[in-house]
Amino acid sequence: MSAQQFVTVTVEEVTTEAAGVVSLVLAARDGRALPPWTPGAHIDVVLSRDLIRQYSLSSAPDEARWRIAVLREPGGRGGSVHLHDRVRAGDTLLVSTPRNTFPLDLGADRCVLVAGGIGITPLLPMAAALDAAGKDWTLLYLGRAAASMAFTAELARYGDRVRLHRDDESGVADVTAELDKLGAADADVYACGPPGLLTAVEDYARARPGTKLTVEHFTADPGGARREGDRPFTVRTRDGREITVGARQSILDALSQAGVRTLSSCREGVCGTCETAVLGGEPDHRDRVLGEEERAAGETMMICVSRCLGERLILDV
Ligand code: FES
Repeated sequence: MSAQQFVTVTVEEVTTEAAGVVSLVLAARDGRALPPWTPGAHIDVVLSRDLIRQYSLSSAPDEARWRIAVLREPGGRGGSVHLHDRVRAGDTLLVSTPRNTFPLDLGADRCVLVAGGIGITPLLPMAAALDAAGKDWTLLYLGRAAASMAFTAELARYGDRVRLHRDDESGVADVTAELDKLGAADADVYACGPPGLLTAVEDYARARPGTKLTVEHFTADPGGARREGDRPFTVRTRDGREITVGARQSILDALSQAGVRTLSSCREGVCGTCETAVLGGEPDHRDRVLGEEERAAGETMMICVSRCLGERLILDV
């Protein structure tokens, strides 16, 4: 696991991009170049000790400054309201270096990008990268109404490659029909948006083996990380300590109570911050970060939600 690092940035611009959506343009406070990143990456924004939120980078990797976009969610956990109401141009923020749990494969023959609402943010740098590489790609961008869909003007330069669907004009989209029209049945598909949209895209891909799907979840598994029948198990640390993880306890909490410091952010299995190397034992993956191949490899796990299929895990902590 690579140690996460942090950088202090200055908010250089705050722009209203759509109803309830602002973008923040960030530059390193010390004037140095910001760390490199790849399309699909996100950063953690540290708003207070207990309020750390993830936002996708929506600028292009070759731009000197980073841009994030924030949807105001009054019923959320406070991060978006804080950024909307309290952060202004000239303020400083502490943010992590970029982490990519939604990487783009530029080697694919054809890509279909699917965005719902604020889920457009990680797909903007993907579209730019695909276009710059001369790839065959299309973007389906779904939203409730024109006023709530950010960055449509920016996307206009791609012409027919971008298909906008507005519910107030066309009704709720038939996702299967839309994906069929775009030839997603034999394409690499990248999707980011609300849970209902992602479920529809996942159902589509499950029924079509030619679709290679990669999704970015903003929310935890609605079923929750805990299951009936969860049992205690042991985690062995690098220095040989044996720490018991209770049936109703996360590995993260058990380690913390035992004085073992680890990084975490969302604590819901969606951000990737707590990714930890597995040195022994078989993880029971319950996160929404790792893909099928990464799960099968069993080399890392998200210790905020995932558990153990046997009696003991040996972790690089
Ligand atoms: S803290 Fe976010 S995935 Fe574990």
